[in-house]
Amino acid sequence: MLEDAFVTRKLIAGNWKMNGSLEANEALLRAVLAGLPAEPAADVAVCVPAPYLAQVQALCQGGPVAWGAQDVSAHERGAFTGEVSAAMLRDFGCRYVIVGHSERRQYHGETDEVVAAKAQRALAAGITPIVCVGETEAQRDAGETELVVKRQLAAVIHALGHCVGEIVVAYEPVWAIGTGRTATPEQAQAVHAVLRAQLRAAVAGQRRVRILYGGSMNAGNAAALLAQPDIDGGLIGGASLKADEFLRIVAAAG
Ligand code: PGA
Repeated sequence: MLEDAFVTRKLIAGNWKMNGSLEANEALLRAVLAGLPAEPAADVAVCVPAPYLAQVQALCQGGPVAWGAQDVSAHERGAFTGEVSAAMLRDFGCRYVIVGHSERRQYHGETDEVVAAKAQRALAAGITPIVCVGETEAQRDAGETELVVKRQLAAVIHALGHCVGEIVVAYEPVWAIGTGRTATPEQAQAVHAVLRAQLRAAVAGQRRVRILYGGSMNAGNAAALLAQPDIDGGLIGGASLKADEFLRIVAAAG
């Protein structure tokens, strides 16, 4: 296939969620930076709570770890109390922003359309959105996995058009997030293949869109998941808070 000639490096992105403190972040990042080779075989990033972006920028600037946020406003600027705009994230050097994480969809009512608008704002500011899709356990049991993830991705493709080639997608089955129940490599690959086909149809001839797997990925299961042909990296929650575990996942992606 044409775009297979453009296979990119894997991306291992930590999602710290609402964890951390000035002290803990510094210890974690210093340990990660000390443990990484100067030129890691995979791209590495951490997505951190917004108040810590300046700290993380100062610690990571010029090194092998990129940084980003966990959410961005769908609005450009103005009277949206509490929101953080894509331009503000850009000011702090963010390369990535997670959008549409299942916790945002579930607890903050984010619809497919809102998620698509956020992805659009990020791209317009020069930030790569990591767009999360994934089915709940009930949806999987009802045989709706493919339908759900395709609908979630379709909204983003519809909003972005051919620019969807610039995003990163993360497949995160909701039942595997923070539960210790990882999708098997075969289960994950099957969904990644569906997403790959959908992306290929939307961005034919462009470079390969990276599709990450997320959901209880750890040092023990990363290698088998990352060996699947359509798994281009990982979005790591709990295991990204432990330097040693995170470093071993990065090593498994090399
Ligand atoms: P987990 O979280 O690795 O703790 O399951 C992944 C995520 O929610 O991004």
